Amino acid sequence: MSLFRTKSVEQSIQDAEGGEHRLRRSLSALDLTVFGVGVIVGTGIFVLTGVAARNTAGPAVALSFVVAGIVCALAALCYAEFASTVPVAGSAYTFAYATIGEFPAWIIGWDLMLEMALGAAVVASGWSGYFASLLKNFGIDLPESLAGEHATFNIPAAVIVLLLTGVLVAGIKLSARFNAVMVAIKLCVVMLVIVAGMFFVKGANYRPFVPPSHLIEGKGGLQAPLIQVLFGVTPVAYGVFGIFTGAALVFFAYIGFDVVATAAEETRRPQRDLPVGIIASLVICTVLYVAVSLVVVGMQHYSSLSVSAPLADAFQSVGESWIATLISVGAIAGLTTVVMILMLGQSRVLFAMCRDNLLPRPLARVHPRYRTPYRITMLIGGATALLAALIPLSAIAELVNIGTLFAFVVVAIAVVILRRTRPDLPRAFRTPFVPVVPVVSALASVYLMLNLPVQTWIRFLVWMLVGTGIYFLYGHRRSRVAARTEAVLEV
Ligand code: ALA
Repeated sequence: MSLFRTKSVEQSIQDAEGGEHRLRRSLSALDLTVFGVGVIVGTGIFVLTGVAARNTAGPAVALSFVVAGIVCALAALCYAEFASTVPVAGSAYTFAYATIGEFPAWIIGWDLMLEMALGAAVVASGWSGYFASLLKNFGIDLPESLAGEHATFNIPAAVIVLLLTGVLVAGIKLSARFNAVMVAIKLCVVMLVIVAGMFFVKGANYRPFVPPSHLIEGKGGLQAPLIQVLFGVTPVAYGVFGIFTGAALVFFAYIGFDVVATAAEETRRPQRDLPVGIIASLVICTVLYVAVSLVVVGMQHYSSLSVSAPLADAFQSVGESWIATLISVGAIAGLTTVVMILMLGQSRVLFAMCRDNLLPRPLARVHPRYRTPYRITMLIGGATALLAALIPLSAIAELVNIGTLFAFVVVAIAVVILRRTRPDLPRAFRTPFVPVVPVVSALASVYLMLNLPVQTWIRFLVWMLVGTGIYFLYGHRRSRVAARTEAVLEV
């Protein structure tokens, strides 16, 4: 039973108040929304729109964005309730600890590394690709072995990760300011795409909006989506199914709104501001995504969209190369904040896990002057930089999706559990229509997970097994909650 010992909500909140493990509360609802947009808008819209339109959904990629947006909105409603009830760093990890128990909480904390640390490394390597192409515009050629997707040691990716680690150590307010500037640049560029792009839209490119479906040959074995292997469904491109397959792909574009919840302990009025930050950033991004994707598939026929830089390429194709250059600048600014905030979220989750003694507690010490968890931040920065430099990441990017979706499922279930076990808790934000919304949310997330390849599932399970091993070797015995329980029993 000790695997399912829980940590009460009151205890979690009390731990967050303690001396040298206490963070600085300085963020407002607006800061959180800007954080949210900063971490959400990135590789997804700048890169994946092209792949999804061209290979799976056609012009109906805009509908894929709507579907993925709905799945995320359901999850956001669940996150918002939790964040307003348990405003403690750690997000899904803390929520699970309060409801399902210690082992599931550890598993979620471990799982979130796939979303945040691995996600940061994936986006950093995308960043280096854009960076190299921008330098090329100015006549500087970086060798392929040192930058971009095929690099043996991706130097720009590692350098940007280390620089951002420095910003994160220097303080949450500085990170928020830096983020605000970058987000402003990125939003201007996205708006420019929408407004300027509208003038180049041709109605013919939208016909047919949902191209007729056809079978995809040769996507079997480990590459096939799990749902196909389980139910013997044949994979098709385009058509109505294509819209859903596209949704599983562009889901990546929405990853990050949940990261807002990890800033709970740095928010001035978390009960009110966290739900606002989570939901507002998601709504803004959904509107932008649908608009951008509609414009892009209107500018260029979906079959000729670029799969690496679709936004810039669409403007090249209509002869507006200066806009294409601006888009590259916006993408670089945009991806920078994604990497930074994913690492920020990661540090806060590990921080909460160390504070609970599931990982070495000294790592959670807060810097006396900057009041940031500097040791963990530097550790994560180092590991992410190495990962981004050494591993060809496009192959494992889908692990980021599965890791995030798994956390969504657990949080949705946990909302229902906490309503039963602690109906008395003050909830500044309540998920509407419980249990319907959480149940539909969990099912929708599972559905998208099933659309991911078998290979991704195997990697995911291996990662989870490693995490389980570490828990039994370390956290299970040292857990602070366990120590407290024993103390109470002895008295
Ligand atoms: N949503 C983030 C992106 O698209 C992870 O880059």
